[in-house]
Parts: sequence; C-alpha cells; structure tokens
Amino acid sequence: MAATDPQQNAPRTRQTPLLIYGAYGYTGQLIVEECLARGWRPVLAGRDAGRLAAVAEPHNLPHVAFGLGDRATLDATLQHTTAVLHCAGPFIHTAQRMLEGCLRTGTHYLDITGEIQVFEALAGQSDLAEEAGIMVLPGVGFDVVPTDCMAQWLKQQQPRATQLELAFEGFGGVSQGTAHTAIEQAGDGGAVRREGYIQRVPPAHQTRQVDFGDGAVTVASIPWGDVATAYYSTGIPNITTYARLPQQTIRAMKGLRWAAPLARQRPVKRLLHWWVDRQPAGPDQETRTGGRTRVWGCATADDGTFAEGLLYGPEGYAFTAAAATEAAGRTLDGAGSPGFQTPATAFGADLVLSVPGVERFLVSAPPKPAYQS
Ligand SMILES: NC(=O)c1ccc[n+]([C@@H]2O[C@H](COP(=O)([O-])OP(=O)(O)OC[C@H]3O[C@@H](n4cnc5c(N)ncnc54)[C@H](OP(=O)(O)O)[C@@H]3O)[C@@H](O)[C@H]2O)c1
Repeated sequence: MAATDPQQNAPRTRQTPLLIYGAYGYTGQLIVEECLARGWRPVLAGRDAGRLAAVAEPHNLPHVAFGLGDRATLDATLQHTTAVLHCAGPFIHTAQRMLEGCLRTGTHYLDITGEIQVFEALAGQSDLAEEAGIMVLPGVGFDVVPTDCMAQWLKQQQPRATQLELAFEGFGGVSQGTAHTAIEQAGDGGAVRREGYIQRVPPAHQTRQVDFGDGAVTVASIPWGDVATAYYSTGIPNITTYARLPQQTIRAMKGLRWAAPLARQRPVKRLLHWWVDRQPAGPDQETRTGGRTRVWGCATADDGTFAEGLLYGPEGYAFTAAAATEAAGRTLDGAGSPGFQTPATAFGADLVLSVPGVERFLVSAPPKPAYQS
C-alpha cells in the first residue's frame, strides 16, 4: 500500500518510517524496547520533553515533544512519517486528534486502544481514511489481537455462525494507564452486541463456565474491545466478551450496580485517578516474563453447531508490545489496506501466531499444549 500525500496526490518518500507517540508511557516504553530489539530506530514523541528525552537519549533515538493540541508540530512531524503507533491513552481523549493529523498528512494510524467507543468512532471515519489512502488500525495490543484473530479463525471454521463468545484470563496486573482508562469508562456498565447493534448492559451481565484447558471456571461478561471489532472482522451479529474474575469481584460488580451514577461523577473520577497515580507504573519484568494469558472462543450457528478454540500466549503487556510492533512492521512493509481495519482484517487470523510463545488449537482436536497452568 503506497502512502500518498492527499494534498499533492502523489507518492511521497517518508524520511521517518515509524513514529511512536506516548513513547515514555509504561506500554510505549515496552514497544520502544521491542523496536530496538528488531534493530529499528523509530522517532519517539510525547508531550513531556524531559520524560521523552529520558527514554530516547540513552538509545540516541530521534525525538520530538509536542501536545496533540499543537497541530502545526503534529502535522510537520507526521508529514515525514509513514505510520504512527499511538500509545497515549485514554484514547477517548487522544485518538481523534491523532487521526485528524494522519488524515491531513496521509499517515497510517495504529493504536493500542481497547475502548469500544473509540473503535466505533474510528470505524465511522473509514471512508475518510480510504480517501486519504491510509489504514486506520486500532487495537493492536492484547486487546484485541488474540481475541480478534480467534474470532476470525472460528468464523472460518464455522461460516454460518451467528453468535460469538470470547473469554480470556491471566492479566497479572494492570498499568496506571489501563486503570486510568478504566476509570474514564467507569459507570458506563457493560456492553454486548445484539443483532449487529451494541447494547449497554449492567456490569457482569452474564456469567458462564469456560474451560481454558484444565477444567471449567466462571467468567463474567465485560465490555472488551471485540464487542466492537469482532463484528467488522467476522460479520457475526451477536457478540459477548468475558473475563475470568474472582467470585468476589463478580459479586461486587453485580452488587455495586447502583453505584454506576456515582462512578460517572467527575470528583469521584478525580479521586480514583489520584489513587492510581500512586500505584506502580505497571507489572514488573518478572510478572511480564513469567505470566501467561489464555483465550477461549466459540462461534455458534443457529442449528447449534459450533467451533471452539483456545489460544495460549504471553502476559498481556508483553503480548501488547510484541503484537503492536509486529502490526507496525507489517504496515511499514505495505501490508493491509486503506480504511478502517481490525488486526485480523488487516493481516489475517494468523497474525497472532507471529507473537512469540502463542499456541492455538481447536478444542475438538487439541494437540497437547506445551503450556500447563
Ligand atoms: N490494547 C491493549 O491491550 C493495551 C495494552 C496496554 C495499554 N493499553 C492502553 O494504552 C494506554 C496507555 O497505557 P500505559 O500503560 O502506557 O499508560 P501510562 O504509563 O499511563 O502512559 C500513558 C501515556 O499517554 C500519555 N498521554 C495521556 N494522555 C495524553 C494526552 N491527552 N495527550 C498526550 N499524551 C497523553 C502520557 O503522557 P503524560 O504522562 O505526559 O500524560 C503517557 O505517555 C491506556 O489507554 C491503556 O489502556 C492498551
């Protein structure tokens, strides 16, 4: 896919293949390390010059500090960039301004959001992206690469599927950024897709038993990104996403439904953000290298026939760094298509197999997995 300058309508040579915005955040830094391990030299960006320099200078990486409100510097930087990997969330506050810069300058847009509202807002601008000749590819982290690839793979096994269920387990802890993003969504409740439309439902609206490979456990519905993306990847109109959570957490999610209006109040959010800022930046290296995630999926047709699959992979933030870097590399290589894409529509259901340590198999005929919990 050749990036073109919409203003000049002619192919352009980009001096900078990849820009990482939000590069000094917890996940941004993991992605920078992954790029360096591949021998890449991305340009780093973010709004705090000091924190940016502290990440870029030890590796002698080029860097440019600017806020997303600084349209002149944003555009001047993107003018020379083939693709941006946007890591500054909550994306509900940042994605639109970055996308607009990408549309103005003909730059491919990738991010690591998992926010349903953001996926839907970006999908709604697919025509603009096609006109600009750019790919808009959100969700290249753990949310949603493994589940999105599972969804498309199961649809290939069961083409008549009308229901999709996806579940995961194994997050060893969350980063400050993930917690801040969850706070912004607090009070919105859960979400499912029914007959093609996203519906708001109460937290932990549904529970069910899932076997990740060593016996049935309880999972509860949560508003994971696939409620938005799996519809674009598979066309399946009914989608529910679940996470394995402790029983007391599920009970609390149900018991505290009355508190949803409270969680939407700005002062309450401010207090929660204040508390999160005093927590560790994210899981430590030992947790990242030792942790594992497991994904289960089932695509069911109206006649009750189904395809069920499992996927085992690395810890969530390690997964995110590897998957996001892989997606950026493929974009720079010219894979994918202009317009809104999901990881699986851009690169196929096997994209996830390029993440080191990932194993995937159909439940009906599982080879013995190397990983045992
Ligand atoms: N899809 C996935 O699986 C996945 C995985 C990991 C993370 N994430 C998401 O990625 C985001 C970042 O996570 P993280 O762990 O890296 O968090 P983090 O350590 O808090 O870093 C957040 C980064 O975003 C920047 N930022 C935030 N708001 C900004 C704004 N309005 N303008 C410019 N920069 C802004 C921050 O800069 P300042 O410090 O200057 O504010 C910082 O560089 C979160 O939304 C998280 O939910 C998703």
